[in-house]
Amino acid sequence: MSITGVGSHVPSRVLSNADLERMVDTSDEWIRTRTGIRERRIAAEGEATSDLAVEAARKAMAAAGVTADQIDLIIVATITPDHLFPSTACLVQHKLGASRAAAFDIEAACSGFVYALEVGSHFVQSHTYDTVLVIGAEKMSSVVDWTDRNTCVLFGDGAGAAILQNRPSAHGLLTTCLGSDGGKAGLLEMQGGGSACPATADTVSRRLHFLRMDGKETFKNAVNAMVSAANEALDRCGLEIGQIRCVIPHQANQRILTAVGERLGATPEQVFVNVDRYGNTSAASVGIALDEAVREGRITRGDLVLLVVFGAGLTWGAAVIEW
Ligand code: UT7
Repeated sequence: MSITGVGSHVPSRVLSNADLERMVDTSDEWIRTRTGIRERRIAAEGEATSDLAVEAARKAMAAAGVTADQIDLIIVATITPDHLFPSTACLVQHKLGASRAAAFDIEAACSGFVYALEVGSHFVQSHTYDTVLVIGAEKMSSVVDWTDRNTCVLFGDGAGAAILQNRPSAHGLLTTCLGSDGGKAGLLEMQGGGSACPATADTVSRRLHFLRMDGKETFKNAVNAMVSAANEALDRCGLEIGQIRCVIPHQANQRILTAVGERLGATPEQVFVNVDRYGNTSAASVGIALDEAVREGRITRGDLVLLVVFGAGLTWGAAVIEW
C-alpha cells in the first residue's frame, strides 16, 4: 500500500502572538517559551473545514496524478466538521466532483490523520478500493474560546491530504499502530452540542461549545503515549530510531516535540517542526507537516519516515512510511 501523493493547505490569514496580546492577558514571550508557537492561521469567515479539506485534496490529487472521478473513497478526519451531519467527507465529495466515491468521517481528534491512514490502507490492501483520499482538516478557530488564554493561543486551522493506492513503485506505508483510553476523555473535550448535552441557551451561556483542556495532564499523557506508540511501530518494522530520516510528531507544543524526540533517542535534526508557524491544527497537523517535509526536501526517495500522534479521546498512534 502506497502514498502516491500528498498536499496541504492553510488559510492566508495569520494570527500572531502580538495579535493575541490584544485579545487576552498573555504575552509573546509566554507563548513562545511555553509552546514554541509564533503564529497560527485562521480561516476566513464563511470558510468551513470542507473548504480547507478540498484545497489540500486537490494538491494531493495533482501530486498523485489522480482525477476526481478516479477516487473510490474519501475519509475525512476532523473534530470540527462543517455540521454534526451530514459528514464533511460527503461535502468534500460533492465539492471535488468525486462522483464515484463513498465518503465518511473519522473522529480521533489530533490522532485523526494516522487513524484515517490505517483505515484507508486496509481498503486498498484488501483491493476493496483502488484509490482512497485521506484528509485531516480542522477549523479549530470555530471551537476555541477566544476569552480563555489557556487554550486560545495554542490552535490553528488547516488541512493535509494523501492519496492511497497499491503502486509498488511509490511510497509504502510499512505499518500503523493505534491506541485509545476513553477513561481520560475529560482531559480534553468539548462538552456541548452532542446527544449527551444538546445545545440550549443555557449550554451556550456556560460556554460548553468550546474546547476545554487540562494542559498539564494532557502534556504528560501525550509524551508517554507518543513515545510508546513510536517504539511499537519501530519494533514491528525491526527498525532503530537512527534509521529514521524524519520523525513527524503531532505539532502540539515545541516542548512535547523536544521531549518525544529526546526519549526516542532522535537528534533534533531528525524531528520535523512547524508548530511555530501553524500552532496545533489537530487532525491536519501531521498531514501538513508530511507535505511540507516532502516539499522542503527533508524526505527523499527511500527515506524512512515516522509519524506519531496524540489527541483527545484519548487517542494515539504511529505510522512508518518508506518514502
Ligand atoms: O493536541 C492534543 C494535545 N495537546 C497537548 O498536548 C497540549 C498539552 N499541554 C501543553 O502544551 C501545556 O500544558 C500548555 C501550553 C497548555 C500550558 O503550559 P504549562 O507549562 O503546562 O503551563 P500551566 O498550565 O502550568 O500554566 C502556568 C501558568 C498558569 O498561571 P499560574 O496558575 O501559575 O499563576 C496559567 O494561568 O501560566 C498561565 N497561563 C498563561 N499565561 C500567559 C496559561 N496560559 C497562559 C497564556 N499566557 N496564554
